[in-house]
Amino acid sequence: MTKTLNVGMLGCGFMARTHSNAYAQVAHFFEVPYQPVLKVCYGREQDMDALKKFQKMWGYESVETDWKKIIERRDIDIVDVVSPNFLHKEMVVAAAEAGKKVICEKPMAMNLQEAEEMVAAVEKAGVANLVMFNYRRVPAVSLFKQIVDEGRVGRPFHYRATYNQDYTISQKVPQGGAALWRLNAKVAGSGVTGDLLAHSIDTAEWINGPIKRVVAHTEIFIKERKNIDTGQMEPITIDDACMFLALFENGSIGTFESTRYARGRKNYSSMEINGENGAIFFNLEEPEYLQFFRYADPDSGKKVEDHLTGWQKILVTNGEHPYMGKYWVPGTTIGYEHYFINTLADFLTSLDGGPKCEPTMQTAMRTQKVCDAVIRSAEEGSWIDI
Ligand SMILES: NC(=O)c1ccc[n+]([C@@H]2O[C@H](COP(=O)([O-])OP(=O)(O)OC[C@H]3O[C@@H](n4cnc5c(N)ncnc54)[C@H](O)[C@@H]3O)[C@@H](O)[C@H]2O)c1
Repeated sequence: MTKTLNVGMLGCGFMARTHSNAYAQVAHFFEVPYQPVLKVCYGREQDMDALKKFQKMWGYESVETDWKKIIERRDIDIVDVVSPNFLHKEMVVAAAEAGKKVICEKPMAMNLQEAEEMVAAVEKAGVANLVMFNYRRVPAVSLFKQIVDEGRVGRPFHYRATYNQDYTISQKVPQGGAALWRLNAKVAGSGVTGDLLAHSIDTAEWINGPIKRVVAHTEIFIKERKNIDTGQMEPITIDDACMFLALFENGSIGTFESTRYARGRKNYSSMEINGENGAIFFNLEEPEYLQFFRYADPDSGKKVEDHLTGWQKILVTNGEHPYMGKYWVPGTTIGYEHYFINTLADFLTSLDGGPKCEPTMQTAMRTQKVCDAVIRSAEEGSWIDI
């Protein structure tokens, strides 16, 4: 019989919605060993209206304005940290010490030191844990990795990632408050590096192996914004844009670019690898497609006939494609919310003897290490070894 898993959700914003949806949907599509039960959600006293609305829409049994009380509850099995970044460490460490399974949103922490404390806490407690790098489970991204692992790209030369948005171009966009805490360094840690490039770094290392050196440049285009919490104009200290070069241990070289000032780009996360035998390209604005350029057969090394070479645009909806067999029929697509469902399905399966679900906090600490090195490199203007 399926066991129940009682969820305590530490937040009630955007990610609290995507995670709640995943808990509600996962057992409809995957045969998971646990049936999640949405028990209690947390929000600040000042966010009570939003918290109550969130509770009603997602069907939580109760609300709580003191997250520590959720962690103290004996009936809560899993604590899901979907709060602003500065709270992640304290929440994860407390949850681990209370013996709870724990899922934490990215960026894992404000800095590497916090990430190390989190890893020590979950490992000491021996609790199952996961950092929500959901883009690994976009079926086309999983297929990207599969094709690389099958040796179809061959020796890699270049890896290229972008993560671009355009929502902070106006001087009028403030910082702080419930919604724009991302622009406040004390709450977010860093800007686009932790918020967006953390995703790109996680998938890059997952697909192409460890990064060994980086050199970065960051930019703050609008130096002051009104802080909603204080009502004053205050300096912006997060990185509005970040570009860095990376050397991978496998000998390939990479470029990474992220900004919230790329007019026209909403959530443009792209990745491309160019190797000796082939190349692959993915972009999150067309998530159901993967583009593959086949130059030579991986086994024989034989070159594809010249008149047949060219980019192949694969519609990733077949039952043979990662995760797609769990959904509808070939040719029908899935969406953003399903990447969270896929991730949760893998996590729940891992709890009952299934394959290990990555990235654990131990694995995700690598991404935090690279993010810290990128910020330090931009400050010092020099290469940093990871
Ligand atoms: N995996 C992804 O793709 C992805 C996408 C977006 C956000 N995230 C991460 O999820 C986490 C939550 O982000 P979100 O987009 O849900 O944020 P959000 O702004 O939608 O919600 C944040 C919640 O925290 C509350 N809050 C704001 N400031 C607070 C403070 N100072 N103290 C306590 N609570 C505060 C808000 O009222 C709100 O309920 C962050 O770590 C973020 O980086 C991940």
